[in-house]
Amino acid sequence: MPTPPRILAFAGTTRTDALNKKLARVAAAAARTAGAEVTELDLRDFAMPLYDGDLEATAGIPEPARRFKAALLDHQGLLISTGEYNSSITGVLKNAIDWASRSGPGEASLACFKGKVAGLVSASTGALGGLRALVHVRAILGNIGVLVIPEQFALPKANEAFNPDGTLKDAKQQASVANVAGAVARLLAKLHAT
Ligand SMILES: Cc1cc2nc3c(=O)[nH]c(=O)nc-3n(C[C@H](O)[C@H](O)[C@H](O)COP(=O)(O)O)c2cc1C
Repeated sequence: MPTPPRILAFAGTTRTDALNKKLARVAAAAARTAGAEVTELDLRDFAMPLYDGDLEATAGIPEPARRFKAALLDHQGLLISTGEYNSSITGVLKNAIDWASRSGPGEASLACFKGKVAGLVSASTGALGGLRALVHVRAILGNIGVLVIPEQFALPKANEAFNPDGTLKDAKQQASVANVAGAVARLLAKLHAT
């Protein structure tokens, strides 16, 4: 039996009823169906200060950021539901990426990003579903060594899109999320086949 690929799923927004947390859950479930072992993470549990070079120089990488880095290191794949603020990545997600991109003593550069495979989705109340954020997150992750798969999905009018059980009302949208999550799981299975 091959070892299942390990995927970390999380949202780029933190509020309790975040639509992106809901979409990340849909993606996580689909990746499990595709054979992956998925850990769901809430960035609210990793409350990091805003990146500050003086803080890093005097106190090192903050404990929540070190925990986030450890979680990234422990997984081969990422499923991120980014959210979109003012046409771009949310500050919470960018700050988390910025801290995680910093190397502690003796750590290889970008070790928690290089060679990872990521699938991106987004949810917003707007008509574009966070599509513009997907473009930016794809570029950022690509530049720090993450292989972002071409498949992606933006969920528009996300405040109307979910059933009470957390699944998507529209079967085509549900299939599109599963397509992203399944593609990450299948690619990882191929890459790590022994
Ligand atoms: C600061 C801020 C900026 C936003 N900018 C955008 C935007 O550019 N495009 C968009 O579709 N929605 C935008 N929204 C609306 C969010 O997509 C919406 O609030 C969404 O529910 C946030 O994600 P969440 O439900 O995961 O918290 C913005 C919301 C906030 C708070």
